[in-house]
Amino acid sequence: MKLLGIETSCDETAAAIVDGEGNILSNLVLSQLEEHRVFGGVVPEIAARAHLDHLPKLIEAALDDAGITIQDLDGVAATCGPGLIGGVMVGMMAGKAIAAARDIPFIGVNHLEAHALTPRLTDDVEFPYLLLLVSGGHTQILLAEDVGRYKLWGTTVDDALGECFDKSAKLMGLPYPGGPHLEKAAAQCADQAAALERFPLPRPLKGRKDCDFSFSGLKTAVRNHVEKLPPGKLRMEDVSAISFSFQCAVCETVADRAEKAIRRFRETYGKKITSPAFVACGGVAANMALRAALKDLTQRHDMSFIAPPVKLCSDNGAMIAWAGIERLKRGMTSPLDMPARPRWPLDEG
Ligand code: KG4
Ligand code: ZN
Repeated sequence: MKLLGIETSCDETAAAIVDGEGNILSNLVLSQLEEHRVFGGVVPEIAARAHLDHLPKLIEAALDDAGITIQDLDGVAATCGPGLIGGVMVGMMAGKAIAAARDIPFIGVNHLEAHALTPRLTDDVEFPYLLLLVSGGHTQILLAEDVGRYKLWGTTVDDALGECFDKSAKLMGLPYPGGPHLEKAAAQCADQAAALERFPLPRPLKGRKDCDFSFSGLKTAVRNHVEKLPPGKLRMEDVSAISFSFQCAVCETVADRAEKAIRRFRETYGKKITSPAFVACGGVAANMALRAALKDLTQRHDMSFIAPPVKLCSDNGAMIAWAGIERLKRGMTSPLDMPARPRWPLDEG
């Protein structure tokens, strides 16, 4: 079984071929970073037009890379939401057209489910597992019970974690997208103890019983620190120190919220699940400090920690193809009149 996966929900145009055993035969991602950089964020109309310009050639290249032709495909999976609707429609319609022309199944994929199922592509994870989804648009803790069956245990009440990284980085004058740049700056912090003392930051919602998140206060606290520094371009050592303190606050907060979810998982399943897994996915899961904090937490709770390789954590076509394979194997295909959905919560089915 070979599936084409198409991803166009944000600013990455991506196409990949994955087979039924989870071998990634090709995985091409074309970033539109340069097109959006001058605006400091993704411009939906520009994104949609760029997807339209690049997608046909990218699909051809993905087929070429995999050494197959369109005749060898057994199905097509494309993101149908959530995301920027113009871009989603470009990828979805391309996917539907190929499926219709070849008379093969079409699978409309929830982008969030594709992130959620990626650890089953990379690591053979069994259901049920706990999932922390941290991206530019989402921050959620989910219980993954099966393909298509998720329970939302925690979500952000304001900003997404990736958004908080990006906005905080922007306040410090770091380039867009800020997350990776902020991580690099934090790694250069020379005196970590002094950084924490000079730039103390809150741990929003830490200690609360539920698994929810809040990040807008953290971003505001970063702004307050930045505004107290001398005007003009910030000194790199101050940026590194604030970034380090920021990352510490994020790690501590996320680990605290994740610990609540782990306790709930244990209460729900007791000892029935012999080797439970905690999975981190989404673009922010590329952050090494966050990975280390979660690894430490899960070790203390006898859970295995799984985070897909960075390339498969951020948006890509292989995860869409794999979600399509998981669904196709269960007979869960989509009609060709399936709509694109700008909003599509994962626990809605
Ligand atoms: O999942 P993703 O590629 O796109 C969606 O939002 O769906 O996530 C992108 C987000 C951005 O906010 C980016 O800054 C953040 O992930 N990110 C990181 C890192 N790499 C990417 N945040 C913190 N540390 C990183 N190393
Ligand atoms: Zn994503």
